[in-house]
Amino acid sequence: GIELGPLLKQTGLVTLDTGFVNTASCTSAITYIDGDAGILRYRGYPIDQLAERCSFLEVSYLLIYGELPSAAQLEDFSEKITRHTLLHEDLRRFFDAFPRNAHPMSVLSSAVSALSTFYEDSLDPFDAEHVELSTIRLIAKLPTIAAYAHKKSVGQPILYPDNSRGLVENFLRMTFGLPAEPYEADPLFVHALDVLFILHADHEQNCSTSTVRLVGSAEANLFASVSAGINALFGPAHGGANAAVLDMLVKIHESGDHVDTFVERVKDRSARVRLMGFGHRVYKNYDPRAAIVKKIADEIINQTGGDPLLDLAKQLEERALSDDYFIERKLYPNVDFYTGLIYRALGFPTRMSTVLFAIGRLPGWIAHWREMMNDPATKIGRPRQVYTGYPERDL
Ligand code: ACO
Repeated sequence: GIELGPLLKQTGLVTLDTGFVNTASCTSAITYIDGDAGILRYRGYPIDQLAERCSFLEVSYLLIYGELPSAAQLEDFSEKITRHTLLHEDLRRFFDAFPRNAHPMSVLSSAVSALSTFYEDSLDPFDAEHVELSTIRLIAKLPTIAAYAHKKSVGQPILYPDNSRGLVENFLRMTFGLPAEPYEADPLFVHALDVLFILHADHEQNCSTSTVRLVGSAEANLFASVSAGINALFGPAHGGANAAVLDMLVKIHESGDHVDTFVERVKDRSARVRLMGFGHRVYKNYDPRAAIVKKIADEIINQTGGDPLLDLAKQLEERALSDDYFIERKLYPNVDFYTGLIYRALGFPTRMSTVLFAIGRLPGWIAHWREMMNDPATKIGRPRQVYTGYPERDL
């Protein structure tokens, strides 16, 4: 029943590829994925090597500038970021105006969008100095904004950044510290979060990164483009899955249901229940990030005294991986299956899980936006459609 004639007349051949399953929207030299082999590399380096040997700031530099920094480059990058962690006082006051129960992801995207109202001196996407300044501002300010979004939701006073600390340590202090009380982050927690940020730092043309590129392709500034990406990430089929996994585990745990009962409900398609944290558009094998995350979950949760939800998650994984439904569809745990459990062990409420994903993904969004802006072949993103509505009719 699709009327292809008029469209073909206008454009020649048009490909209908719902969800862009087989359509590349760009070329990119940033991240390589082989979904069948379970391979992920940033700028050619395997993800496990980066997670083991580099810091999140080094990996951010690698993604954005194409090479790992020398010691002097890292010091300079780190120093510039440290200088920009404060929020303008007028922007800080925005947090007073959001409702107390505002979702921290909504607060995050709103505040990032608002950055373009404060920094008109760094909005030109084709001016190298503007782009550099907005890059540094975003990396520096996103953890501060994220911590304030958390403080807002728990009704606590905010803490200004303490620039004697590193990015992750500073973020943990602004999130969990209280005025006039000393706060020292557990080095194990700092390291775990740093590695998790690395694992999330880029994943080529995923939904939020494609959103950043699409918005940016209209020559929108970096703050506007990244704010759009944050909103895309919020969805439970994408970054919101880490929070949805926790909600799912809590529900199963509280109901006292056996994992079999839940898996059967997933397989009964009429119930429209998905096993959250399972399945991936590109990985048809174990997500290499999920394997690393599972190890960190074990270490951290052992250290913090155990969590019945971790045991439940492992039972679910084992049950699903031996079930024909999941085997036939090549559904494996993705990066989100165990991350929420780690964030919970570190003390974050469930709703902060996707905010943490956003902090990690930021360098990837920036790298893609910059790559696109520098590519002379870039055109405004403007997909076609296949019209299925009425043919012409009279009133
Ligand atoms: N639970 C149960 N069944 C699933 C799941 C799941 N988590 N994921 C996919 N399936 C089934 C689908 O119903 C479909 O079955 P069918 O062929 O019989 O109709 C088949 O597997 C293929 O799934 P699609 O939805 O076509 O796969 P797609 O590539 O479009 O979706 C997605 C990928 C969105 C990640 C999906 O697997 C999903 O919703 N997973 C749960 C949410 C999640 O964890 N998202 C995080 C993804 S990773 C990230 O963004 C960081």
